[in-house]
Amino acid sequence: MKKKTFETTVIEGIQFKNRIIRSATHEGMADDKGFATDALKKLYVRLAKGGAGGIITGYSAIQPDGKSPLYNMTMIDTDETIPKFKEITDAVHAFGTPIIMQIAHCGRQTRSKITGVPIVAPSALRDKFYSEDMPKALTTDEINTIIGHFVDAILRTKKAGFDGVQLHGAHGYLLSQFLSSHSNRRTDEWGETIQNKYRIISEIYKRARDVVGDYPILIKISAHDGQKNGVRVDEAVKIAKLLEDSGCAGIEVSSGVIEDGLYTMRSETLPVDPAMAYTFKYKNLPSWVKSFAKPILKLIMKQPKPLLKYNLDAAIQIKKAVGIPVIVVGGINNINDINHIVENENIDFASMSRPFITQPDIVKKFQQGKQIKSKCIMCNYCAIIGEERPLKCYYGKMPGNG
Ligand SMILES: Cc1cc2nc3c(=O)[nH]c(=O)nc-3n(C[C@H](O)[C@H](O)[C@H](O)COP(=O)(O)O)c2cc1C
Repeated sequence: MKKKTFETTVIEGIQFKNRIIRSATHEGMADDKGFATDALKKLYVRLAKGGAGGIITGYSAIQPDGKSPLYNMTMIDTDETIPKFKEITDAVHAFGTPIIMQIAHCGRQTRSKITGVPIVAPSALRDKFYSEDMPKALTTDEINTIIGHFVDAILRTKKAGFDGVQLHGAHGYLLSQFLSSHSNRRTDEWGETIQNKYRIISEIYKRARDVVGDYPILIKISAHDGQKNGVRVDEAVKIAKLLEDSGCAGIEVSSGVIEDGLYTMRSETLPVDPAMAYTFKYKNLPSWVKSFAKPILKLIMKQPKPLLKYNLDAAIQIKKAVGIPVIVVGGINNINDINHIVENENIDFASMSRPFITQPDIVKKFQQGKQIKSKCIMCNYCAIIGEERPLKCYYGKMPGNG
């Protein structure tokens, strides 16, 4: 039977209101200890009221050395974080909307200036963007400790009332660093072959099962990226099959790593003005260097194409290979494409990030036939300025000082 965008659907006990999901989007709305705030609750309630079929939270750190360099990330590293998250899940559930927490360790895509401790990675290779620190290659004991922290965090998400958890295995963060031969040069049982590169994820699934039973554990992966020896779709298909064997509840198909620039969240042009004003790498450069660099950067940093539905082909290939639900994200911005993805391409869910920043009620607008296409202009100011401020749509305009 053909799927429909606006039908309820259940995966592993999670009842989605329709097949359009809010993809994980870092909100920068934690307090200075990493606890969720009322502002975050308000945002999720707006998304729930606005008709999202389900919500995936922005990434939350499982331990301090895995913290994001972006502004005010939530932490799920202690039991003290649970009560506020529980307040949030109760508020969202009041609208019948499921909410899934995304959990992450950033690995080498962070800065020791932020985490307060040396950064770590599968191999001691400097990230080209987060180039301040040389990461320390993890030992097997340290990898096992991180697996334990993922499992502890999964249990906390369950206790906090989240309907499921999503492992951040995409965009070049730690789990994605393990999956890619570009960042994982290990020759021990954690590297070289697909099975070995996948081992950290398979261990998280195995050990989590003993603790949380059949609680839904989803994952987001980058099915392709722009790096030499990076992940390619044929390898992602093999990873998807391993995920199915591990009991994964659903795979969200994304792409890219931070070193790729805006490969994950594509733009027509490079947002050089916010990059020069807000990115730690450029903001302290002398102003004459900035004015000189802006046009050059625009010229040399070619933006990846296409701008729309750029992970759909990968998602189709993955869906053909596995029997578990597949979610596709990336440049999906109108209801006609969503209907096509769900009805004709047999993909279980379409997810969006930036369209929900511009309009948290976009799904309601689609459903009521009031709007066909998102108002988001894909300027990516939200992502760049998110290094220093809470999530907001800037609509291609630099913020004032307030
Ligand atoms: C401001 C911002 C924050 C993001 N934060 C996250 C995040 O916390 N976790 C994640 O997996 N992806 C994150 N993403 C990526 C999105 O989930 C999504 O994969 C990407 O933006 C492409 O989808 P879109 O075209 O619908 O925006 C973020 C994107 C933006 C724009």
